Amino acid sequence: CGIVGYIGHRDAYPIIIKGLQRLEYRGYDSAGVALFDGDDIHLAKTKGKVDDLKKKSESTISLMGKLGIGHTRWATHGAPNDINSHPHYSNSGELVIIHNGIIENYDSIKTELTKRGYVFHSDTDTEVLVNLIEEVKKKENVKLGKAVQIALNQVVGAYAIAVFDRQKPDEIVVAKLGSPLAIGIGENEYFIASDASPFIEFTSNAIYLEDEEMAIIRVGKEIKLRKIKDDSIAYPNILELQLNLEQIEKGGYEHFMLKEIYEQPRAILDTYRGRLLSQQGLIKMAGIDQNLEKFQNANRIIIVACGTSWHAGLVAEYIFEDLARIPVEVEYASEFRYRNPVITDKDVLIAISQSGETADTLAAIKLAKEKGAFVFGVCNVVGSSIARETDAGAYTHAGPEIGVASTKAFTTQITVLMLIALKLAMKKGIFSQSKFHEFLTELENIPSKVEQTLKQDKLVKEIAAVYKDSPNCLYLGRGYNFPVALEGALKLKEISYIHAEGYPAAEMKHGPIALIDEQMPVIVIAPKKGHYEKLISNIQEIKSRKGKIIAVVTEGDTSIRELADHVIGIPDTLESLTPLLTTIPLQLLSYHIAVMRGCNVDQPRNLAKSVTVE
Ligand code: G6P
Repeated sequence: CGIVGYIGHRDAYPIIIKGLQRLEYRGYDSAGVALFDGDDIHLAKTKGKVDDLKKKSESTISLMGKLGIGHTRWATHGAPNDINSHPHYSNSGELVIIHNGIIENYDSIKTELTKRGYVFHSDTDTEVLVNLIEEVKKKENVKLGKAVQIALNQVVGAYAIAVFDRQKPDEIVVAKLGSPLAIGIGENEYFIASDASPFIEFTSNAIYLEDEEMAIIRVGKEIKLRKIKDDSIAYPNILELQLNLEQIEKGGYEHFMLKEIYEQPRAILDTYRGRLLSQQGLIKMAGIDQNLEKFQNANRIIIVACGTSWHAGLVAEYIFEDLARIPVEVEYASEFRYRNPVITDKDVLIAISQSGETADTLAAIKLAKEKGAFVFGVCNVVGSSIARETDAGAYTHAGPEIGVASTKAFTTQITVLMLIALKLAMKKGIFSQSKFHEFLTELENIPSKVEQTLKQDKLVKEIAAVYKDSPNCLYLGRGYNFPVALEGALKLKEISYIHAEGYPAAEMKHGPIALIDEQMPVIVIAPKKGHYEKLISNIQEIKSRKGKIIAVVTEGDTSIRELADHVIGIPDTLESLTPLLTTIPLQLLSYHIAVMRGCNVDQPRNLAKSVTVE
């Protein structure tokens, strides 16, 4: 979910609505806004998108108020409908809350409150929380801030909340545990949001609350931060934001996803810029340099991640084992955290996350730290929870990724992981200086090769038109390109709702081959590297069962051209770098198919970009 709030001298409504639009990537099944003009609270909420909310609020409520909060939801408790949308009132109508996260013990609190006469209108855990705050406030006869603090100590779960009280027109109370919360500091005004994008045109000064911190925000007063546990004072760390407006707008592209696909040459370059010093034959990365021993002495590397980041982890497994000869295990963070894994202080755990907020990945990190492992983060969002929780890390410099389907985050994650592996290969003496140099030089060629690959867009679009109505698709690859097959299939599923599966090409004969008939498009990732000959045999197996073959090949390849129905050429590169190129046509293919099917590319149904619940 995304939350946003404003208190100050301007009208809150336009800030809230625009902020919600920017945060819509975080969830978009329902939305709501509450405005307070000092006398009355004006609240509107609805199932659907922020645009639906805009229509509803502009036709049904007064838009007055210098204080406002808003929410865009990704449902956890209760179906996405008008009633379950946020904000939620407390029973007396005095308190109003928005919440991102999940209250795990809401059921027992609800039972208790029901006994005391509270009535619940929605199925949400959030309505339970606001009534708990109300009950504490009455029972203990305390002010809102204190009531929030006491109530949150009774809660198990994750939250970023903003709440206000009809009795206090100049105050909003916020608190955080697990879900992100940024406070923008203007002159006599404050902004609240799940990330800084809603307020970057107003201020570049922000505080990111730490877990278990809360703040009482009052117009004209300095912010007071407190620890939720013991009410002690916490000191804010005011950051200067690097974001700019252009980065979070579509810049002439029809969708964020397409813009982000096209940004990849630049994003990859930004990711290795200043780190890859080919003239000096060096890779400089502070997070690695300061912890080289940990990596060099590691028994193994465990990679944890979710979704697309997990696929980048799988590519990294090939890279690390092949180039740096370090054993690697790649795990879904959600499985790892609950399966009582064997972790020792000789393990290095790498957590990969675009948002840096994924709840399962964060929990996996905490577990590994408890067991003494050294934890390294690869995140895109600067200052995110994972970036802060890890012992060290390296940022990808992809810039904000807004399309829910991840694209440039994936290729920049692979870039960072490649830099780390190369550095270790060199330090461990596995690479000669000349081999190291060959890799560095080729990595520097990647942005222009991605650029060249993007020129296949027109061809990919034509192919998309042929297969857009297929109910199923199979993606096959071997070696370094097996994870690319998984990622290609995930992209198609996510945004076009076509069922797709990725498989290691040789594994096809153990099951998926039964699916192949003349209706079935099979996308084969077959650069002229590694197991090329073996892949040709796999292609022949598909062909003899009349499957339709779309092959991603190295430019100039003639053998596969004869077998395949369509070929998409990519420039030649080192085998371990091919994923950075082969991924591009697969991203474009799913993009065009989704557009042709009339799907909402940037906000596919049921998904959210940042999943802060487990
Ligand atoms: C969600 C997103 C995916 C993303 C995954 C992991 O499911 O929709 O695009 O890959 O979370 O997110 P992270 O931010 O940890 O990389």
